[in-house]
Amino acid sequence: MKTEILRILRESDGHVSGQQLCEQMGVSRTAIWKVIGQLKEDGYRIEAVRNKGYIITEVPDIQSKEELQSILKTSFAGHPVVYFAETDSTNIQAKVLAEQGAAHGTLVLADCQTAGRGRRGRNWVSAKGENIYMSLLLRPDFPPAQASMLTLVMAYSVATTIREKEELHVKIKWPNDIVLRKQKVCGILTEMSTEIDYINYVVIGVGINVNASSFPEDLKGKAMSLSEESRKTIQRSTLTADILLAFEEHYRRFVEAGDLRFMVEEYNRLLVNQDKEVQVLGGKESFAGTALGMNAQGELLVKKEDGTIEHVFSGEVSVRGMYGYV
Ligand code: BTN
Repeated sequence: MKTEILRILRESDGHVSGQQLCEQMGVSRTAIWKVIGQLKEDGYRIEAVRNKGYIITEVPDIQSKEELQSILKTSFAGHPVVYFAETDSTNIQAKVLAEQGAAHGTLVLADCQTAGRGRRGRNWVSAKGENIYMSLLLRPDFPPAQASMLTLVMAYSVATTIREKEELHVKIKWPNDIVLRKQKVCGILTEMSTEIDYINYVVIGVGINVNASSFPEDLKGKAMSLSEESRKTIQRSTLTADILLAFEEHYRRFVEAGDLRFMVEEYNRLLVNQDKEVQVLGGKESFAGTALGMNAQGELLVKKEDGTIEHVFSGEVSVRGMYGYV
């Protein structure tokens, strides 16, 4: 009921009368009044005007299941939302839920993680009340070989949404990171359970430094938050809802085509390494070359000094700039 009342109030241009809410929800005025009280306690500014009704005048940066659900416009991504004020890692929780049979589209969201995980066994700093920590559970119908492309689809969705909605000029560092001023603002950790010929499930974990105002000493100069650039607090729920909506559309196009042709051109425009000297680490060997861009299979094409072009598969490699992270 809280979600529904929140949705009605937010979607309305003006005041919504108590009577109207009663009728739409099929409950008493007292019940409505109680929920309005709870919403105010959560931090929403709601004004009640005699003979007119209720109106939301301010929505602070609230992270909750009801908040996200009240603005979500997706058809599967975020249905349902499983919210934790604090958990070990949303990826771990999403995998537990997946093993218990949770549905395609389940989103695990947390306000804080005590054991946030990054790629290559690193940890992910997950302070409370500032950032986005979410994991999307998918049960795709395509072969396991295509699953790593989902990371690229998510990175593209995050980057294009931040650029469009927050007007920040983030770039993508193939395959997993979103960067701003050559510093990391978002990391993606995709984990999956597969059989030889089919995918049980995929968990795409996304960590975005949204409103963090400080970072541990070892990350200074390497990580930053979106609000440090925009100089205002960004509403995490709105950004989350917009990213999920963008992802859903990109996912649909990816599944339809079976590859990334629909996004490759724009992706390469956003690629921070495009035409730059890079060092490819891990995989079968480490080598240096010039990044020529990503192809529709999600591979990064790197031209080596001898002129040969390597197709780098995103699996477990890491790409660095010649003189640092980018
Ligand atoms: C990386 O760049 O190393 C990947 C970082 C991924 C962090 C996110 S935060 C939400 C989800 N839960 C985790 O434990 N990790 C991912």
